[in-house]
Amino acid sequence: MEPLFDLRTLPEVPEWADFVDAARSARIATDELRLIKAAGLTLDLSAQRSAPALTHAGTRLLEARRFTPARRALLDGAIVNTTEHRAAWHTALRAPAATGDIAAARQRMDDFVRQADTARRWRNIVHIGIGGSDWGVRLAVHAFGYTGMWRQVHFVSNIDGHAIEGGLAGLDPQDTLIVMASKSFTTAETLENGQRALEWLRAAGHRDPWGQIVAITAQAERAREWGIRNDHIFPLWDWVGGRFSLWSAISLTVALAVGTGVVAGMQGGAAAMDTHFANSPPVENAPVQMALAGIVNRSVLGYGSLNIAPYDYRLHDLIPYLQQLEMESLGKSVALNGAPVGVPTGPAVWGMPGTDAQHTFFQWLHQGSDGAPVDFIVCRHADHGWPRHHQSLLANCLAQREALLCGKPYAAALAESLAEGHAPERARWLAHHRTHPGQRPSSLIVLSRLSPYTLGALLALYEHKIFVQALIWGINGFDQWGVEYGKRLARNILESLGGQREIDTAHDASTAYWVACFRESSNT
Ligand code: F6P
Repeated sequence: MEPLFDLRTLPEVPEWADFVDAARSARIATDELRLIKAAGLTLDLSAQRSAPALTHAGTRLLEARRFTPARRALLDGAIVNTTEHRAAWHTALRAPAATGDIAAARQRMDDFVRQADTARRWRNIVHIGIGGSDWGVRLAVHAFGYTGMWRQVHFVSNIDGHAIEGGLAGLDPQDTLIVMASKSFTTAETLENGQRALEWLRAAGHRDPWGQIVAITAQAERAREWGIRNDHIFPLWDWVGGRFSLWSAISLTVALAVGTGVVAGMQGGAAAMDTHFANSPPVENAPVQMALAGIVNRSVLGYGSLNIAPYDYRLHDLIPYLQQLEMESLGKSVALNGAPVGVPTGPAVWGMPGTDAQHTFFQWLHQGSDGAPVDFIVCRHADHGWPRHHQSLLANCLAQREALLCGKPYAAALAESLAEGHAPERARWLAHHRTHPGQRPSSLIVLSRLSPYTLGALLALYEHKIFVQALIWGINGFDQWGVEYGKRLARNILESLGGQREIDTAHDASTAYWVACFRESSNT
């Protein structure tokens, strides 16, 4: 049987060379409008390189990379995570007509929330989880609860004891629910912080602290062994990647904080993007075209990073959410066949909400030697009562994008300096400093307004974009082997710091020195 994926490395694929040539000779056309509408979003790729030859080369490259069967396999729950031999079936979690375990899990979560709401229980929630068991929950709670919630959510993810100390500070142990979110239920941070929370409940004289701790995990047995009551364990499955798990019961805290409607709404928007992705031909497919534009910027033009600029204060957690989704998925340099990929892959992702970002690092984006492609994300309509504020936000978003796209040539900068009354010689000198190169790529994603539906669609857009990029780069976008080594070294050093073992002679000089120092200081 023909393998699901094309196992050649990208440089071995003739269509790649054609794509590179077409991309190199393409330009960002300032007189063209390239819009794709999908699931309540409008994706504007007008400020990305385009040309009929590039569009054609992109479609041929997708065929060479077996896009259609691979997409089918993803959406049907086939084994697409080849190194862990698992499906990556997060789309099933948001399918409208879910059945079986998925429907049962949804029902259990809704019942739990309804009972808590009816009983007016849990004024405080301490959500303990990290990475994919944390960022999505923060994103949704902060996006839809920013004007205040009946339940206060305290997020604890870091192993730094100041995090759990701050997370529990001032809370009423009688009315606090501890939510331990961990797909593996082996993550040191979550188990240690969970232990501190358990001790905090016990110290408050709780006869049955287990009544106030729930877990969301794919490892129910481990949670039971840890002490969690069976009826307090909410499932997810190993075929759901951590960074794709927001669609599962990992969103229990979201439902408790801002309502089950928000969770259902997000699933609905994401499912609509799944339908668009599944059925739209490549040239009209938003995730596909966004993926190809990103590959041009990264692997052809050599931009090392991607900037995310949500022009919406409520979306500040979108950046760490996408950092994990993008960089844990695409931060790979080994192809599916085990050989070096041979081209630059996943960019470094960074960002900040606009307009704060403008006063922080947009100087670098406009005139820095490297620059970076920018994803501008904005909502057409605001939910606050100050239209002037929103008009200004929209104006700034479009202006920054236009400045990157069109730039300011020397002649315009000179005219500007002269018009300000600078002496000709100084004006000529100053104009060099005020010139903007332009032709700096960006995408614009417009949501009608920020709703659970449009946020869900937005996240699914990025998930599918990343799947297509992994497919073209020939890497596995669903594993994360690189995170394990550091954890193992940390366990080793922790034992040395704790005196359970000698300092490992295999350490480099500097590590050995500091382990000895810290061990000493932790004994005094
Ligand atoms: O270390 C990285 C990682 O495994 C992520 O992929 C994951 O989202 C996070 O840690 C938390 O893992 P878990 O949900 O199993 O505690």
